[in-house]
Amino acid sequence: MKQNAIAIDGPAGAGKSTVAGKVADLLGFVYIDTGAMYRAIASKVLDGGIALTDLNQIAELARRVRIRISREQGELRVWADGADVTEKIRNPEVTAAVTSVSQIPAVREAMIGLQRELAAEGSVVVDGRDIGTVVLPEACAKIFLTASVTERAQRRWQEMKEKGYEPDLNVLQQELEERDRQDSEREMSPLIQAKDAVLLDTTGMMINEVVDRIVNIYRNQWSGNA
Ligand code: C5P
Repeated sequence: MKQNAIAIDGPAGAGKSTVAGKVADLLGFVYIDTGAMYRAIASKVLDGGIALTDLNQIAELARRVRIRISREQGELRVWADGADVTEKIRNPEVTAAVTSVSQIPAVREAMIGLQRELAAEGSVVVDGRDIGTVVLPEACAKIFLTASVTERAQRRWQEMKEKGYEPDLNVLQQELEERDRQDSEREMSPLIQAKDAVLLDTTGMMINEVVDRIVNIYRNQWSGNA
């Protein structure tokens, strides 16, 4: 049976979180940012001084850490074992570590289980890399959100500037490309477009335009299923 869920997948910097949060607010759905969950694990790994090569310890940590996410006044907040890690999980060290951490099968198993539990609680918008393919294959609307790599790098650069960092645009673009390559080539739930996903290239589009398109896709799909 189809699930009342919107799955938004796509490469890094495609604007998934911004758009997914707004779609959720508009429809009154709960927003689940799965990238934030992997980031929370990576942040705990770094804080605990665990080597990125120590797969057993990382797997153990992923199984016992308590992650909570909530959206308050349009802002996503993330907790790991009761501590607010919202800001910390966006720092460059976590961003550099998260892709290796997310490739560990035991980490993915733990996170996919948690994501499915959260999604079973009601109507949801979930964004990530493997939502339409693996986490929620029965989601009634699936979107594969992308944009040109130059535009994605430009958006990331802008975001980081606003947070007070001094990023180099070329380095950012290389990092995005490397993260996409690793996410697409990994064995377990790689980044690929689900067969029944709608491809949305947002290059040159305004955020609200993208949000409206997704809400319309959802309404068409759900009325066809209800
Ligand atoms: O979406 P965001 O850039 O915050 O995700 C951080 C990283 O987490 C991604 O680069 C990817 O390696 C990993 N990720 C994943 N599967 C998801 C969501 C994120 O592997 N569903």
